[in-house]
Amino acid sequence: MSRKNKLYEGKAKVLFEGPEPGTIIQYFKDDATAFNAQKTGTLSGKGVVNNHISEYLFKALGNIGIPHHFIERISMREQLVKAVEIIPVEVIVRNIAAGSMSQRLGIEEGTPLPNPLVEFCYKSDELSDPLIAEEHILTFGWAEEQEIDEMMFYALRVNDFLSGMFAGIGIKLVDFKLEFGRFYEDENCITILADEISPDGCRLWDMKTGEKMDKDRFRRDLGGEMEAYQEVARRLGILPSADVTEIADHKNKTSKSRS
Ligand code: TMP
Repeated sequence: MSRKNKLYEGKAKVLFEGPEPGTIIQYFKDDATAFNAQKTGTLSGKGVVNNHISEYLFKALGNIGIPHHFIERISMREQLVKAVEIIPVEVIVRNIAAGSMSQRLGIEEGTPLPNPLVEFCYKSDELSDPLIAEEHILTFGWAEEQEIDEMMFYALRVNDFLSGMFAGIGIKLVDFKLEFGRFYEDENCITILADEISPDGCRLWDMKTGEKMDKDRFRRDLGGEMEAYQEVARRLGILPSADVTEIADHKNKTSKSRS
């Protein structure tokens, strides 16, 4: 990790310069934050599980024609991605009322929405990612109209596809957050899906029990975060027999004993 040039450290990931120009290595940390990092913690093995889940979901979305930044997973915690200019707008899709929307509008958590709802937030840690309207994006030049249309279109396709995929393994996709980037190729600039898709940025509820299988377990002090993340991975058929916490611990011990 230390050999590469660090470009940026976020709350859950570190970005390093990739081996080729135009590539970046995303390193998934075990750090967990909530409420704009007012609450912090470490979930041992989270980075490993999220790296694998995000790989799986990006590949599946690529197969249905969603353009994305993922190139390949290169280690337990790292993946090679295309370098993009991140559009400073978080796109949230909601199928069931929960979280900040329930609080803001007084709609009981768990109320199904009549149609998928797309929300935008301005990506700014200093301002705690405030909810914004499409007009703000245009007024302040955070994205072009065409980019907004593309983000909406892809977000709804991602929602349709992932809702079906998760339903097939007994999980309700309640809501999730996506980030997009501008990818420059020759003279062209295209909008592609970036960042990660994992239980850190989705709400996933077990269909039978209603049990939360996502970062709300951490946000709300419910415990059992890693068991829940691993269960999502297990149902997706990723890391079927391995306990990733053990893998992560083993790798840490091995690398410590080597250094
Ligand atoms: P919210 O209900 O807190 O607005 O969150 C909606 C969804 O977006 C939820 O699945 C969690 C995800 N999310 C992030 O991934 N990052 C964030 O910074 C926030 C606020 C939400």
